[in-house]
Amino acid sequence: MLDMSQYKDKTVVVTGGAQGIGRGIAQAFAAAGARVVIGDIDDEAGREAAFLINRNGGKCFFFRMDVSSWPSCKELAAFVVAESGTVDILINNAGIAHATEGSIFDETPDRFDRMLDVNLRGPFLCVHACLPFMTRSGGGSIVNIASVRAFMSEPGNEGYSASKGGVISLTHALAISLAPRHIRVNSICPGWIDVSGWKKGNPVPDQLNETDHKQHPAGRVGEPGDIAAACLYLCSSDAGFVTGTNLTVDGGMLVKMMYE
Ligand SMILES: NC(=O)c1ccc[n+]([C@@H]2O[C@H](COP(=O)([O-])OP(=O)(O)OC[C@H]3O[C@@H](n4cnc5c(N)ncnc54)[C@H](O)[C@@H]3O)[C@@H](O)[C@H]2O)c1
Repeated sequence: MLDMSQYKDKTVVVTGGAQGIGRGIAQAFAAAGARVVIGDIDDEAGREAAFLINRNGGKCFFFRMDVSSWPSCKELAAFVVAESGTVDILINNAGIAHATEGSIFDETPDRFDRMLDVNLRGPFLCVHACLPFMTRSGGGSIVNIASVRAFMSEPGNEGYSASKGGVISLTHALAISLAPRHIRVNSICPGWIDVSGWKKGNPVPDQLNETDHKQHPAGRVGEPGDIAAACLYLCSSDAGFVTGTNLTVDGGMLVKMMYE
């Protein structure tokens, strides 16, 4: 059983932590006693996420930022250090996607560029901005949220799939570069995670049907807590010998034969 006390008073930055999977990750680290800073582009959602965590006895700050902007990432890191003195853990979760199935003609050059800017360049910029402070505190852990779409696709997913494949490569490159600084870097590939109940406002969760759940070898669609649990493991001392790797958390879908 993971010793959650190791997260007490650690400083954890979660990009895209205002909603969805990131909100679940932020809540999980806060529940373990960490100081959490959410960096997100959505002001309303970010304030709400921080408010809910603080109301439940956690410690959470929100900083509005855009991971695709270098000045914005530097401002986030400066804010974190001003509030908390250091950065111990960085979860690069912020990401954008598009309709699951489209056409190559929907994938315009501008859309492709934006996808790479946010999903791939964003994590790189956040690492660069936080690195001096992680180094100063003697090391830490970074988790990049990729996707099973790094390995498999539906039509019209070029930008998203390429960005997430890039995140996996970025992860092993960073793991080697940052090892001398005692920083471990890993990625997680979520499968289908139902985030409908984790949005701002009072979201009504999607009504998933039996087929949605039963197609997964694990018997159900994923939830943000599944990814949060993987983050808690990868950032813990239990994973001290784990760096540069990818953990797929998809209920078994990636290894399931699809022949019908
Ligand atoms: N939900 C899934 O099924 C699933 C599956 C595989 C991978 N993922 C990945 O998990 C991560 C979270 O996905 P989600 O489903 O929770 O998405 P979501 O849309 O629910 O939440 C994403 C959050 O990122 C923020 N964000 C978007 N662009 C940003 C930017 N430029 N700068 C800062 N913040 C920004 C949004 O405001 C939002 O709060 C993404 O990287 C996504 O690609 C999700």
